[in-house]
Amino acid sequence: MIEAVLVVDDEPLMRDFLKETLQRLNCQVDLKDNGKDAISLFKDGDTSYDLVFLDMKLPGATGTEVLKVIKEQSPSTEVIVITAYGTIENAVDAMKLGAFDYLLKPFTPDQVELIFERINQKNILVEENQYLRGEINKKYNFSEIVGDSQHMAKIFETIKKVAISTATVLISGESGTGKELIARAITYNGLRKEKPFIKVNCASLPETLLESELFGHERGAFTGAIQRRKGRFELADKGTLLLDEIGEITLAVQAKLLRVLQEREFERVGGARPIKVDVRVLATTNKDLSKEIEKGNFREDLFYRLNVVPIQVCPLRKRKKDIALLVNHFLEKFTHFSSKEMPDISKSTMERFINYSWPGNVRELENIIERIIVLDLQGKELDEHLDLVLASSKPGKDDFKVGRRMDDIEKDYILKTLAHMGNNKSKTAEVLDISVRTLRNKLNAYGIREES
Ligand SMILES: Nc1ncnc2c1ncn2[C@@H]1O[C@H](COP(=O)(O)OP(=O)(O)OP(=O)(O)O)[C@@H](O)[C@H]1O
Ligand SMILES: [Mg+2]
Repeated sequence: MIEAVLVVDDEPLMRDFLKETLQRLNCQVDLKDNGKDAISLFKDGDTSYDLVFLDMKLPGATGTEVLKVIKEQSPSTEVIVITAYGTIENAVDAMKLGAFDYLLKPFTPDQVELIFERINQKNILVEENQYLRGEINKKYNFSEIVGDSQHMAKIFETIKKVAISTATVLISGESGTGKELIARAITYNGLRKEKPFIKVNCASLPETLLESELFGHERGAFTGAIQRRKGRFELADKGTLLLDEIGEITLAVQAKLLRVLQEREFERVGGARPIKVDVRVLATTNKDLSKEIEKGNFREDLFYRLNVVPIQVCPLRKRKKDIALLVNHFLEKFTHFSSKEMPDISKSTMERFINYSWPGNVRELENIIERIIVLDLQGKELDEHLDLVLASSKPGKDDFKVGRRMDDIEKDYILKTLAHMGNNKSKTAEVLDISVRTLRNKLNAYGIREES
């Protein structure tokens, strides 16, 4: 909002008129009757004026000179130039130098008020944009990605470096490890943060639809293509395109993608005109692409185009150091906007979190913490809930070995579950979905004797 206004005019009547009009608009008004005084005011570092009404014909210094100094010393101060009929070119020059608008003498209080409103409106928009930009920065700066482990520290380093480049980045890792979060951090800490960020999930669409989604189509390109449509590559022009789950695309789409990455151009489906784009590509995959290459499912040349900077995100079970921090991060996140109290997580509960294998990685951890907050789980209730959810999930992939006998695996699984349940047989039977009697029989067969 405009609060402080300076009027620079050598005509006393004009000064009085503006002072009165502006005071009615609740402004604090200062007056100067020559250009020289106005210049020294700004040169002395007084940049507190939101708005200056500036006569172009002044003693001491010309309006243009004053305007230049104002814009140099205080670019956010708006200037309205006052000019007389016949000297309109002056006003045009002033606009080029950054004046907001001009008023042609004589003018009415309504005209002043109108311009005043326009500046206020503009300032509101500017402030809103600044706020939104701040929100984006807040949302995607590194503090949203939590990590204590060396592994994450290295990833933060890489993010910082690649953010300020336009290199293609291939982010791989199991589901829920934070690949998309990393892609967003790269974008929102980089040069293209205010340009479009477009995401395409390559796994969710069949081949033909994916092709038109990525590259767009011309009218009549296929049944149902009633209108020309821009693809995501075009929409992401000057910005960033995130190709999610790149391992899922077919060889035909891979060939087209390779061409865009090499030549930065493509045609819409059913179109002949090459379209040039400037798009930064980020890709994620939860598949091991080198294995897909061996199997003939993925083009090696495309892999190298994508894998300019690889970021491999470890599964959570291999960076246990991050777990406690993540637990606290999500506890804060889910209590922050609710009236709920932050639950106390005991040392033993935290140990259970740390020892668990997290097959769903950070996403699974996040979901569990959210559930704990929503259901107000505390103390014994919390323990019981964790008995169920932490034990019933699949064991980590790391445990896999070729050549183990079925009953050996079963025994291992049962004993681990029993240990996890603090030797409580009925709970163990419950999560294994077998009767206590069956459990007892099996334990007997393993030679495990019941105490007491
Ligand atoms: N290091 C982390 N710090 C904070 N939150 C994280 C972290 N890693 C992941 N998350 C959160 O976990 C959830 C899953 O992350 P994200 O969607 O980025 O995973 P993904 O690897 O893309 O998974 P998918 O392969 O299933 O798409 C998100 O809500 C994300 O905010
Ligand atoms: Mg993802």
